[in-house]
Amino acid sequence: MKKEIQVFDYASVIMKALKTGILLTTKVDDKVNSMTISWGTLGIEWGKPIFTVFVRENRFTKYQLEKNPEFTINVPFGEFDKKILGICGTKSGHFSDKIKELNLTLESPNSILVPAIKEIPLTLECRVIYKQKQDESEIKEENKNKFYPQDVESSFHGANRDFHTAYYGEIISAYIIE
Ligand SMILES: Cc1cc2nc3c(=O)[nH]c(=O)nc-3n(C[C@H](O)[C@H](O)[C@H](O)COP(=O)(O)O)c2cc1C
Repeated sequence: MKKEIQVFDYASVIMKALKTGILLTTKVDDKVNSMTISWGTLGIEWGKPIFTVFVRENRFTKYQLEKNPEFTINVPFGEFDKKILGICGTKSGHFSDKIKELNLTLESPNSILVPAIKEIPLTLECRVIYKQKQDESEIKEENKNKFYPQDVESSFHGANRDFHTAYYGEIISAYIIE
């Protein structure tokens, strides 16, 4: 069962959860992959509701988004197993099947090909309508030093040398899986 929601009615729930981590899921062919994110923005451009995610170069998620520019966002709503955010935020789909390892339940999507994750039930189905690699020359020195240390290899899941690409996802559908 899915309860349809007006996404902006849940703006504070989404933004509070984002601080500690939510899931960004992608799908290419049969490979579904979730990664934990804590950077994102909810807003409006071109008169459309948009959720923007910021993904570093080396992430498997980036590879997936370039092949199928759609994603689901799953936000905790009620109790959930914190291990999900831990594993999805430290292991990479380059080398593992996180969905299988965590035994996550995939929920059929309404409007895109990427499924939702039932265990993290507040869902936004998003289609990428714009993307932009962030311009290194416009990033303040303080943030460059903190978030892009050039002596840390790209595969490290915390701060590393790779810059972010912003993917703007038009929110096509929003619901809570019950
Ligand atoms: C709490 C938390 C928040 C994170 N936020 C982001 C983020 O916003 N963008 C990003 O590129 N990586 C972020 N990461 C790192 C990725 O989740 C991590 O590198 C993951 O293993 C990438 O998975 P993938 O290679 O399967 O895409 C975060 C990790 C944690 C634990």
